[in-house]
Amino acid sequence: MGLSAVRPFLAFALMAAVLLSPAFAQQASPQKQPAVKDYYQRSLATYEFRKAAQSGPERGREIFYYKCWFCHNEFTKNAPQLAGLYQRGTLLSGLPVNDGTVKDRIRNGGAGMAAYKYTLSEEDLNDLVSFVREKCCWDSDAPPLNPRYQAH
Ligand code: HEC
Repeated sequence: MGLSAVRPFLAFALMAAVLLSPAFAQQASPQKQPAVKDYYQRSLATYEFRKAAQSGPERGREIFYYKCWFCHNEFTKNAPQLAGLYQRGTLLSGLPVNDGTVKDRIRNGGAGMAAYKYTLSEEDLNDLVSFVREKCCWDSDAPPLNPRYQAH
């Protein structure tokens, strides 16, 4: 057999080697790596409502301001005031006020209130409810201090 006769086989072997090589396989179907998050990137903190805090009631306040305050504000008569909700004891529905019933109200909404079960995660709800329980509500005359510049 001359060289010209084996050439197609050599070409085929070379292609097979490339296609079957681990490097090619990885490139063809890249493993999904979880994105590395960098919270010094301000856009990420903005996007995830983490400008004020990573978690807890201060993060809840931030979510509240963007997602709830435009209805539940101190000036409105169209939505219930949430300040002192936990002291009041019962929701308008008659259910007792606790983290579970308040989270359900936020998840499912109500007459005149949007439902948030698809837009807020369990972590978001926990932070939000801790704000409603401990620090509610937003005070338009005293917005939170800049967390990056607080005199001590
Ligand atoms: C579009 C206006 C609107 C938005 C936005 C809204 N709410 Fe409401 N919310 C209402 C209205 C109106 C009610 C009363 C509904 C009812 O009783 O059926 C209510 C009821 C509630 C209640 C029950 C109060 C009670 O005394 O029974 C809670 C808790 C609550 N909202 C929390 C939130 C939170 C937290 C958010 C933000 C994630 C939010 N709401 C966003 C309008 C709104």
